[in-house]
Order: sequence, then structure tokens, then C-alpha cells
Amino acid sequence: MVSQKSLDTQDALIDQAVSLLQHGKLVAIPTETVYGLAADARNEAAIQKIFLAKGRPADHPLIVHLAKANALTEWAIDIPDAAWTLAETFWPGPLTLILKKAKHVSTYITGGQDTVGLRIPRHPLTLALLKKFGGAVCAPSANRFGHVSPTTPAHVRAELGDRVDLILEGGPCDIGIESTILDLSHSTPTLLRPGHIQIAELETVLKRPILREKQTFSPRVSGSLASHYAPRTPTHWIEHTQLHTLEQSQETIGLLCLQTCVPKNKNIIVRCLSNNPTQYAHDLYAQLHAFDQLNLAQIYIEKIPQDAAWSAVYDRLARATT
Ligand code: TXA
Ligand code: MG
Repeated sequence: MVSQKSLDTQDALIDQAVSLLQHGKLVAIPTETVYGLAADARNEAAIQKIFLAKGRPADHPLIVHLAKANALTEWAIDIPDAAWTLAETFWPGPLTLILKKAKHVSTYITGGQDTVGLRIPRHPLTLALLKKFGGAVCAPSANRFGHVSPTTPAHVRAELGDRVDLILEGGPCDIGIESTILDLSHSTPTLLRPGHIQIAELETVLKRPILREKQTFSPRVSGSLASHYAPRTPTHWIEHTQLHTLEQSQETIGLLCLQTCVPKNKNIIVRCLSNNPTQYAHDLYAQLHAFDQLNLAQIYIEKIPQDAAWSAVYDRLARATT
């Protein structure tokens, strides 16, 4: 049972986080996907601090995190019925909707585009924070630009150190990879980033097909850069049938595999992840962060299936590998 004392501590932390946001500071927030680096979405000076802390180029737009769905009307215009239907079905949850932006939305948030990304995250601490704060926060993943997203408070600390004013500690993230992003700003709904919520689920709810954006590697969706979500250690795919070639390795390498495949070489640090894509996604970033701490010469990742259930994980690993 949660004790009164820990509830009081939690309340005090949330109050502190609210006060920091109100004073234009940065707070790392837990979400069900990954930790975010939050600033008051109405405070441009605070938003600029996010870009500095992350080393992120200014043309990469940020997602605005809301406390409740009816705040959509405050941040977006021309909201299609599809947005309300999806919000009702999936929020709070790992789905970001791209809509036409309301006039006041800062160009620092949108990267100069006429659209804005919006979602309600599903984590009790962050929902409590958003409710008390009363506004909205914009929050990219709480990592340095291009690196692996954080799924624990320790990852945030390792990535950002004192560039963040407070880390609201909410344990490890449930899902472990970033939200699905769906663009509803044109007549055809378009998937911009695959995630835990799959395209088929969205199509079932919308009762219409969704377009899969071609790989454009546009900076407008930062996850769409060819290299992103990458460990600092050079990282490569390896086919299952090629695993034995690693046995010759003279340098210390990490191997992330799907099953217990063990090349016999003391230079190889082997970690096995689940055959289940949801569990694999949950553990992936923590494993990549852990490998990055070991000063390995290379990381090898055993090729994973390319079917729909694996599409989000595949997308991230394709960008993490060279
Ligand atoms: O799960 C998530 O989405 C996490 C948590 C913290 O909510 N956030 C996250 O933020 O992954 P970030 O900034 O690392 O990735 C957000 C993506 C970027 O690729 C950005 O380009 C895209 O959302 N995005 C934001 N606004 C957009 C817009 N108006 N049009 C197109 N893409 C947009
Ligand atoms: Mg990110």
C-alpha cells in the first residue's frame, strides 16, 4: 500500500515541478513511452532552453502534452472528427496527433510549420502535474539530440545532467519507445512515426485506410532522420546466420540477440531480449544505454522480423544502426 508519507512527498514534488515550470525552468517528466524534457508551452524563453539542453536544431518541432482532450481546441484549429475519435479511444496514451495549429502556438514549438503535435501522456505523476499546472507542456524526449531516448530517471541524468532543473521520478517507462505519430492535418491520415499503437488499430477505429509516409528523412519529423535513436557506440545489424562470425572478434563488442544464441568468445557481451515485440520494445533502450556505459568497440543487433508487430522497433533500430 502507498503510505501517506510517500503521497505527501509526491504532492510536494509535483508542487515543486509546477513552480519550476511556472518560472520558465525545465522538468523531466515520466510518460508511458519515454521520459520527456518539459517546459511551459506558453513560454518561449523556456522552450528555447529545451533546444539548448538537447543540442537540438531549431527546425525540429516539439509535441505539446495536454491534461485533457478538450484542450485540443486551445491548440489546434480545423479539428477533424477523426481527431476526437482517436483522442477518445487512445488518450491518455502513446498517440500523437498532428493538427493545424492555433494562431498563438509558438514557432519554436512548430519549427515554423503550420501544424502542431499534441498528445495526453499516460503516467499518473505527469497527469497530476499537468492538472495542477493548468496549462500544457511541450516535451521532446529527454536525451541529447540524436541519442537513445531515456526510459528511466538514471538515463535522463546520464544524458542531461544539470541541464534539467528537476527530474520527476516515475520509475521505468511502461512502453519504452516513443509515441505513434499520425498526421491529421491533410485530407488523408498519414502515419509519420510507427509506435506501440499500430496502423491497423488506428484504421479499425477510423474505419478508413491510413497512408504510410514514404521514408523522406525530413528534419521536420526528427525521428525521420537517417541517423537517430542511436547509441554512442557504433551499432550494426547482424543476421542470425552470421552470428558465428563474431567469434573471431579481437575487440570487446556487445551483442543484442533475440534468442539464446551464444557465440563463444569472451570478448562478446551477450544480452538476449524477448521474442515478443512489446517486451523487446520495453527493454531495448535500457539495454542500449547499458551497452553505451561499457566502452564497447561495437554493438551488434541480431536482425529482427520486419512484420507489422515489429515495425516500431524496426524503425528505431534501422536508424540506430549504420
Ligand atoms: O512518446 C513521445 O512522443 C515522447 C514523449 C516524451 O511524449 N516524445 C518524443 O518527442 O518522442 P521527440 O521530440 O523526441 O519526438 C517528437 C517527434 C519529432 O520527430 C518531431 O519532429 C515530431 O514529433 N513532430 C512534432 N510536431 C510535429 C509537427 N507539427 N509535424 C510533424 N512532426 C512533428
Ligand atoms: Mg526524441
